[in-house]
Amino acid sequence: MTPEVLMELAREAMGRAYAPYSKFQVGAALLGESGRVYVGCNVENAAYGPTCCAERTAFFSAVAQGERRFQALAVLGGMGGVVSRPAAPCGVCRQVMAEFCPPDFPIYMGGPDGQIEKHTLSE
Ligand code: THU
Repeated sequence: MTPEVLMELAREAMGRAYAPYSKFQVGAALLGESGRVYVGCNVENAAYGPTCCAERTAFFSAVAQGERRFQALAVLGGMGGVVSRPAAPCGVCRQVMAEFCPPDFPIYMGGPDGQIEKHTLSE
């Protein structure tokens, strides 16, 4: 599974974001050790606090389906689903990742024009 294919799956998930309040749509695709991919999108709520980011949606879905070890994450987001710059996972999502992933865990961030930045969790 290439970063490009993983990013494409994240982009499809971004299209399913429920973000009527911020309009900022985010998609994530998490590659499990098994080779299975778990996607997530942000799901907002009128009360704000219950909102769940795309990355956590993907991680929680994976854990619920029995996978706890992962190879890589792809994430991208933008206003109305238009990606203008790479979006870094928020602090809460990084904390969730730190529970399951090593410091060198690769995080691919999607930018405009299909660009992909590679980062690590420790960064
Ligand atoms: N969001 C994510 O899904 N992932 C992040 O890493 C940052 C923020 C979502 C939460 C909220 O629905 C919207 O983006 C605006 O913050």
